[in-house]
Amino acid sequence: MSLHGLTKGTPLEKAVAAVAQAEANGVMMYYALARLAKEQGLDDVAEVMIESVNQEAVHAGFYATLNGKYPQNFWALLETVKKAEIQGEAQVKALADKVRAAGFTEAADQMEIFAKQEGHHGVVIEELQKKYKLAKIDTAGKKIYVCPICGYEYAGDIDAEPDDWTCPLCGQPKSAFKEKSAVTVKAVKLYEKGFMTQPFALGGEDGTDKFDASVKYRSSLQNFVIDTGKEVILVDTGTPEDFPDQVVDDKTQIFLGSRIEFYVDALKTAGYQPEQVSKILVTHKHADHTGELAKFPNAKIYISRTEADAMNLTGDNVIRVDFTDGAYKNFPASQKIADGVYYIQAVGHTTGNSIVIVEAGDLNYVIHGDVTYTDEALYENKLSVVFEDKAAARETLNRVREFVKNNPTVYCSTHTPLGYENLDAKKIVDLDNPPEPIPPTEIAQNKASGKYVCSICGYVYDPAENGGVAFEDLPADWKCPRCKQSKDKFNRA
Ligand SMILES: [Fe+2]
Ligand SMILES: [Fe+2]
Repeated sequence: MSLHGLTKGTPLEKAVAAVAQAEANGVMMYYALARLAKEQGLDDVAEVMIESVNQEAVHAGFYATLNGKYPQNFWALLETVKKAEIQGEAQVKALADKVRAAGFTEAADQMEIFAKQEGHHGVVIEELQKKYKLAKIDTAGKKIYVCPICGYEYAGDIDAEPDDWTCPLCGQPKSAFKEKSAVTVKAVKLYEKGFMTQPFALGGEDGTDKFDASVKYRSSLQNFVIDTGKEVILVDTGTPEDFPDQVVDDKTQIFLGSRIEFYVDALKTAGYQPEQVSKILVTHKHADHTGELAKFPNAKIYISRTEADAMNLTGDNVIRVDFTDGAYKNFPASQKIADGVYYIQAVGHTTGNSIVIVEAGDLNYVIHGDVTYTDEALYENKLSVVFEDKAAARETLNRVREFVKNNPTVYCSTHTPLGYENLDAKKIVDLDNPPEPIPPTEIAQNKASGKYVCSICGYVYDPAENGGVAFEDLPADWKCPRCKQSKDKFNRA
């Protein structure tokens, strides 16, 4: 006969729970004692401790079973344990890195072994699931709640559980559980190992001479894809495939780095096919945000009217946005794109500039295009040197800062690896606690082609198309034929 749940709901339940907890604590204590005994060369003492601890573990499991602490059909539980163990490997490894950085090498070595063991536990569970063909747990139509500490996923109506219900894995109270959002945001990674200078990133209002050109921040290029669970929505589409590689010299203010993948390939790497994309939201007209708009046969392109007109966009699938849904939080003009996805007027960088805000559970993802080039600018409240309307760019930055102050926000940037690092760690912006700036350690290098690219609009100056006149030999007052920027805004390609 099964002992499962015999004492659950009886007057014995509390006492059994207390003794289960005491036995579980005993496991921790005896193993700690065994380790200490070993450290002191008392192997026989350690042996006795270990013998006791194994019995304590058996006892704890017995009492937990009596109280029905874990479900009798345990496969759903094992599925979440598997996920937690697999995630646990990275978490323990990250902690081991910190322990190592603190100088505790021996402890870190041990923890790296533990990290691998966590991952191995996950693999072993998976093998069992396969053996018993129970890997897939039916959660269809059920709400999922996630433990913030261990990642345990509860499927069903958590409110119906008793008030003292706790996470079966780590003991967190019911109130700590958060409903799992169906919405996910991923980065589409396009360029890496670039840099930008401090005057470029911060000098828009105070003047570039107020900043130190020898200070560099890391740069990259990535756009973002929103998976709402019902549809796949892109925010910007990278550079065009024929966008030339940039070459660095001492005048370079921003260098995107070297190409990782073309946009469509990078989207596939993120897990999506072009045909799946139903909507594209364009933050602004610049070439590194609009390069591959034409590659999505089933997508409607949402772009502000100002920006669409500036790009002369035509086609039935182009939706000129007039922000008819009114204010969104502290932004005066917005348009709802899908549940939890808002396209928001945020001009300044360009006169038709927009940002995207995604609500996912308790978090907000602000996908802001080029409101700032690096997160340091957000924290230090500085504009970059690139804007079409400085006053409006200032107002937009003020509004973005106000938003992140009042709403838990993951800040998804286009031109710094912080964009995807924030996303991976679900790091919430805390304006009062800026992260340590990370200087670039590795910068990609490309060979010069004689071509120059406008850093603002992406226009390519090719001597071969201009009677062989080298860019260097163009008059000093020469302007970009497309966006009228001066020569110094061009980068070597
Ligand atoms: Fe831009
Ligand atoms: Fe950009």
